[in-house]
Amino acid sequence: EKGGYKHFMLKEIYEQPRAVADTIAGRLQAEEGDIYLEDIGLSDEQLQQLDKIFIIACGTSWHAGLVGKFYIEKLARVPVEIDIASEFRYRDPIVGENSLTVLISQSGETADTLAGLREAKGKGGKTLCVCNVVDSSIARESDGVIYTHAGPEIGVASTKAFTTQLVALYQLALKLGRVRGLLTADQCREQVEALLTLPRKLEEALEIDGHVEEISREFMNARDFLYLGRGNQYPIALEGALKLKEISYIHAEGYPAGEMKHGPIALIDEQLPVVVLVPRNDTYEKVVSNLEEVKARGGKVIAVVSGDDSELIDKVDAIIRVPEINDDLMPLLTSIPMQLLAYHVAVFKGTDVDQPRNLAKSVTVE
Ligand code: F6R
Repeated sequence: EKGGYKHFMLKEIYEQPRAVADTIAGRLQAEEGDIYLEDIGLSDEQLQQLDKIFIIACGTSWHAGLVGKFYIEKLARVPVEIDIASEFRYRDPIVGENSLTVLISQSGETADTLAGLREAKGKGGKTLCVCNVVDSSIARESDGVIYTHAGPEIGVASTKAFTTQLVALYQLALKLGRVRGLLTADQCREQVEALLTLPRKLEEALEIDGHVEEISREFMNARDFLYLGRGNQYPIALEGALKLKEISYIHAEGYPAGEMKHGPIALIDEQLPVVVLVPRNDTYEKVVSNLEEVKARGGKVIAVVSGDDSELIDKVDAIIRVPEINDDLMPLLTSIPMQLLAYHVAVFKGTDVDQPRNLAKSVTVE
């Protein structure tokens, strides 16, 4: 049932092009330049009236939410607050009737996320979930649902659930942008066309697997790892660090690249591998200078770059390449090396990749 793969996690990593294609399927109206979300549970008028969006989730799903905030604020210009579910529910959040609370959960059973949903509903707000498991508790109790259609995820470390969550959030942002008059049909069509290239680009991104395995062998004995990114790559840095922690038991931290000089830079020495997410975008030069700060202090840099970028070859210790795509969708591609790096390091260390110690696939305790 692992389809020839050594672990469910690896199988699920490789299923991403298909999973993402399934999340996209049926929701794009390319000709009309619109997005169709069947069970969203909100009328266009209600979507127009929203004055605030909360995003609530735990763990990897929370990281997807951090990227979702970028999508929604950029494409639909609605202010988004994002919370970890176990924080949201205890802080007496200011939820009004024109607010929408978006719950993100692969399993749909996470206790804190479910409690966050009930909190928002109890205060009279509207609720919508991005969920993978059909008819799960969170899906049933939310006013609307966007299913991710990733198929069952068995490996405890979430992979295809994450990338499909990003697609679903992107679709939600496009829908909001259209309904609220921020995106013209032409602009939306352009985004839809980019989305349609994703499965193929993910296939291409997966071709780096062998190379990432070699890099993993080289760095598997490190005691700590640092992951750096800016903007929509910062959540991917957090996600890379979480993946490594949970399956290889190596301590890792994700940090906004620009924040490094405010503390974590003190950690850098020859023993510390630093994964820097530096695809071509508006903050490229800034991230390169952060990377140079790391090198100047003897740190080992593993750079994740896009396209044929050759500027960094002489500056870093290892380079991982992902294909080019528009900046909004780049987090999906840079997620691939994050997953593969964690996976191969864990395999080299001989840990139980699919069932890491102390962790459960679905966290139903608070
Ligand atoms: C990490 C991981 C967890 C889950 C978290 C939320 O790989 O899988 O951090 O993301 O427990 O689970 P869901 O999405 O089911 O609510």
